[in-house]
Amino acid sequence: MQTIEIQTKSRPSTVICGDGAWTEAQTYLHEKDAFFVTDSNVFRFYGEEIKHLFPKARICVLPAGERNKNKKSLFRILDEMLAAKLHRSSCVVALGGGVIGDITGFAASLYMRGTHLVQIPTTLLSQVDSSVGGKTAIDYKNVKNVLGAFYQPERVFCDPRFLKTLPPREIKCGLGEIIKTGVLDGALGEKLLSNAPRLRDLAYLQEIVSDCIQFKAHIVELDETETAGLRKCLNLGHTTGHALELCYGRRSHGEYVMIGMWLESLIAERKGVASHEHSQWVRSLVSLVERRIPVFKNVSQCVPYALLDKKNQQADQISMYVSASYGEGRELVLPAEKYAEYLAVLEKGQ
Ligand code: NAD
Ligand code: GLY
Repeated sequence: MQTIEIQTKSRPSTVICGDGAWTEAQTYLHEKDAFFVTDSNVFRFYGEEIKHLFPKARICVLPAGERNKNKKSLFRILDEMLAAKLHRSSCVVALGGGVIGDITGFAASLYMRGTHLVQIPTTLLSQVDSSVGGKTAIDYKNVKNVLGAFYQPERVFCDPRFLKTLPPREIKCGLGEIIKTGVLDGALGEKLLSNAPRLRDLAYLQEIVSDCIQFKAHIVELDETETAGLRKCLNLGHTTGHALELCYGRRSHGEYVMIGMWLESLIAERKGVASHEHSQWVRSLVSLVERRIPVFKNVSQCVPYALLDKKNQQADQISMYVSASYGEGRELVLPAEKYAEYLAVLEKGQ
């Protein structure tokens, strides 16, 4: 088990990861006025255990899935918090994947202008990425994460035990954000390439989860609110990834991010920002998990969604963060028509 401290301007956050983190969470929450938020799938697997371990805790169970990351779920949590008479010193606990973590974090930031927040991520994606760093949000009017706040959890408990019940599709989803971190942190990228056969081995993934958290913690400490430009790197592949996710919605967030990284590495190469060798390296990392890039029919319908990306500075320009060379990246801004031309590559797949 490892403890990673994240010192941000708003408040410090402590991440405890590895075998035994769940036991630590139980000790931490033991005397607290805890209010759990989870989803229907996680509740099916862990609800009885939570009720047994925390007999006094209130549990709000939301329907599972990205389509429920909305204002209805947000207000359902807030209504239940009010009904439970939570106060500022109560502790809101997000037990679930990135959807639960993001909505619950947002609710915790709003209720009485901020309550205590603990994240217990139960998906690979939420362990390596979303539970750490304080970004909270809901989707609104078909725009992803457009309403939200930066709100750091006091504690994050990442225990691999939860990954045992995760369907393979969700492991693949988490691998998407792991590959992203591997592209950003060249040493991790090389490690993933040389351990390709072990990427679905949960014991090995424990080590990788900790590598990813440490990388993210460092970025978040330097640029908590994405104002210094540095944190934008965590959005690698996300401009196209989010646009595809909103248009097609059949695959998981992580899979769309991998397809986004694949396409955007091609754009970086064609724009002369990255060498052919480097872009191939990015694509070889993606292909560790996403062997074939699928065909997307009528892909130009994604352009309006890419125009709503939070990184954009002008209404008709699309911004993306691309990997330029080993451990180096930069922002690339394209007019919407030019982006549409590159996007058309996805009509053929690979
Ligand atoms: P998710 O929360 O929808 O979980 C995926 C599925 O797994 C759901 O059906 C869930 O019910 C189920 N599940 C969760 N834990 C389980 C377990 N232990 N066993 C069995 N089933 C389980 O999706 P996700 O991939 O965890 O998160 C995606 C979300 O995270 C997106 O909304 C994305 O925008 C957000 N995100 C946020 C950040 C951030 O920095 N805040 C970063 C990356 C992604
Ligand atoms: N996942 C993007 C970020 O945390 O900034």
